[in-house]
Amino acid sequence: MAETITIIDDRTGKKVTVPVTNSVFASSALRELDPDLRMYDPAFLSTAACKSAITYLDGEQGILRYRGYPIEELAEKSTFTEVAYLLLNGELPNTQQLAQWNYDITHHTMIHENMRKRFVDGFHYDAHPMGMFISAVAALGTFYDDARDIFNSETLDKQILRLIAKVPTIAAMTYRFSSGLPFVLPNNSLSYAHNFLNMMYRIGDDYEVNPTLARAMDVLFILHADHEQNCGTTTMRVVASANSDPYSATAAAAAALFGPLHGGANEAVIHMLAEIGSVDKVPAFIERVKNGEEKLMGFGHRVYKNFDPRAVIIKKTAYEVFEVTGMNPLLDIALKLEETALKDEYFISRKLYPNVDFYSGLIYQALGFPEEMFTVLFAIPRTVGWLAHMIELLDDKEQKISRPRQWYTGQDVRSYTELQKR
Ligand code: SDX
Repeated sequence: MAETITIIDDRTGKKVTVPVTNSVFASSALRELDPDLRMYDPAFLSTAACKSAITYLDGEQGILRYRGYPIEELAEKSTFTEVAYLLLNGELPNTQQLAQWNYDITHHTMIHENMRKRFVDGFHYDAHPMGMFISAVAALGTFYDDARDIFNSETLDKQILRLIAKVPTIAAMTYRFSSGLPFVLPNNSLSYAHNFLNMMYRIGDDYEVNPTLARAMDVLFILHADHEQNCGTTTMRVVASANSDPYSATAAAAAALFGPLHGGANEAVIHMLAEIGSVDKVPAFIERVKNGEEKLMGFGHRVYKNFDPRAVIIKKTAYEVFEVTGMNPLLDIALKLEETALKDEYFISRKLYPNVDFYSGLIYQALGFPEEMFTVLFAIPRTVGWLAHMIELLDDKEQKISRPRQWYTGQDVRSYTELQKR
């Protein structure tokens, strides 16, 4: 039986039958009933703004797949740069392709000396690293006169490579600037995550990256690489739909990610855990959340109404990191919060579970990152997802510049009143 729905306009008796595929129907059918008919859908809860083949989520089953591969398998068996290749190209690379991809990324990690030495000096000593990251990514595009030549696929691929390769260098630069430390140049003999940690923490010649910690960083990058049409990615698509260059679009997406309801939640979780202060204060905090006085940061998700599969993997990774770094004292508070919330009707009825941000901050803290760096750590890998969506949007013949309609609720026409008469 054909999967269709029939919509009847009771005002005119006109009706339209429209196919339904994977629970999606084309709302353009409404215009057959009335060309001015629009759907009111604030925050797009029921709107599929695009077709995409990059990431699949099933909120009820807690499923996350990149190009069909379960996140659990990729986190266990893959590396971040291999996952980046998969997200961008749609297939896992073979040995030669991966070697070339890693070589290309490694040899584009440097940033222009003007950015490293002059641009960053314009910030205040206590500038938030995420504000610096957003600005630096946008500024990066001004160093390449071919940045805006986005319909030349070879040139666009070069910009994409530059962004993926340079965001760790920019991230480390924001940290070293904030800490008053000299910058550490990229080391071409190190892997992506290893090189990032080296640029972050090397002091003199005596810094060795612990392989367990480098692997944990790589797994966290894999888990944060993409997540279909989240707020930041939607921003990327909207800006890219205007044919903006990839640097400006990535900066816009990073600005959305900075919000505490989105990627800024990992920093907010640590502030929340520190504010609670001890396990015995958890019940009182939970009561304040239920009274609407607080949000349980790191809990809840627009899509996952069961569990966030990334949170499950991150929790496991946390214990591997703590084996090396020692237990994070805030972990006990986090575990007590999770245990209490998962038994409480307020959270159960609203289907609120730990999301990707609930435990990630505990690992970042154990890896030595200051809280202000946490969202920057989210933006590094998510740059790959944003760029994969930009490419997909530019290749989608059904897409055009994003320009939603509105439901006007303002004043009807009225005449200007002179100042002395108001
Ligand atoms: C990310 O979209 C993505 O994919 C994002 C992301 C990605 O990879 O890109 O997964 C990354 O952003 C994860 C989410 C990180 N944010 C937080 O942890 C902040 C805390 N969470 C909430 O603000 C909230 O859960 C959202 C923003 C994540 C989701 O918000 P929704 O889908 O709009 O849900 P909602 O606000 O409508 O909540 C439904 C109900 C409300 O209660 P009622 O008004 O019905 O009584 O649940 C309540 C909310 O008040 N609620 C919470 C809560 N989250 C929702 N109550 C307390 N604490 C919370 N965290």
